Amino acid sequence: MSLPLAELVRNMPKAELHIHIEGSLEPELIFALAKRNHVKLAYASVEALRAAYAFTDLQSFLDIYYAGASVLLEEQDFFDMTWAYLLRAHADQVRHTEIFFDPQTHTARGVPLSAVFGGIDRALQQARTELGISGALIMCFLRHLPEEQAFATLEQALPYRDKFIGVGLDSSELGHPPEKFARVFARCRELGLHLVAHAGEEGPPANIIAALDQLQVERIDHGVRCLEDPDLVRRLVRDRIPLTVCPLSNVKLRVFNQLSEHNLPALLEAGLLVTVNSDDPAYFGGYINDNFVACFAALPLQRQHAYQLAHNSFAAAFLDLPLKRKYLDEVELFFRVK
Ligand code: ADE
Ligand code: ZN
Repeated sequence: MSLPLAELVRNMPKAELHIHIEGSLEPELIFALAKRNHVKLAYASVEALRAAYAFTDLQSFLDIYYAGASVLLEEQDFFDMTWAYLLRAHADQVRHTEIFFDPQTHTARGVPLSAVFGGIDRALQQARTELGISGALIMCFLRHLPEEQAFATLEQALPYRDKFIGVGLDSSELGHPPEKFARVFARCRELGLHLVAHAGEEGPPANIIAALDQLQVERIDHGVRCLEDPDLVRRLVRDRIPLTVCPLSNVKLRVFNQLSEHNLPALLEAGLLVTVNSDDPAYFGGYINDNFVACFAALPLQRQHAYQLAHNSFAAAFLDLPLKRKYLDEVELFFRVK
């Protein structure tokens, strides 16, 4: 049997490796939580909030994204947000997800880390038992803040060390290059944490090189601008450094003018270990399957690319080998029979 491409990419087993959980907060949930927590929003209605999602660049998005996260106060809020995402991911045939969260966005408002970790972790545990999804947490440092504050956040998070597998670097890339966080990443490496960083989204290939050399990251989030530097591409291919690419995000934040101009086919053609992800699905027009379906409609991608992307998603995951093998076997079987 040979499924139509859209059906194929929807139904194939996959992992999601680049999703900011605060970016999964749908406007309806933002309003429900604002009501529950007596938080005043700057928008009169769900429709008015949605209408504000017309971004011109990363910063214009981040301003609204941080405002949306202001409704998260209690452990139950973090649970509700994460559970809603996990149900959507499950419907999209996500078997494994590695979720980013921004602790500083919450601690800055006086929300204790116990509420953040408690709510997100409880949803992940429930997803494991009720949905059969495996998941893990990656704690991101906000790069527009000083490195000392990242150190302080790391210190506060150490009592929850068993609840996260790695650290990342997100927020405004321009003006805040990876090297600003070299010391805190070195400390995280000593602690045995996995390391990733956003780089080469809006920023130049030099940021990808700095993330590799100065932070020693294992994956690059976005990284689409690597194609501007052929030596860097050769290095990323040689070292099998995964790129967690987010196509709909790149269009919404104007990294590419339209999806048909996205360099995903060129990244695959170069032999890079690329994955497809949603980034901030509530803000960028869709979840992981929306990204897959839109890309396969707009770009010259075929069945073998679908197989490659499903395979890559598990190959690039921070999974223990038996579970990685199990998921990769499921991908092989799926493409043998579908
Ligand atoms: N935080 C949430 N989404 C982000 C993105 N696409 N880039 C940088 N920081 C982010
Ligand atoms: Zn991101």
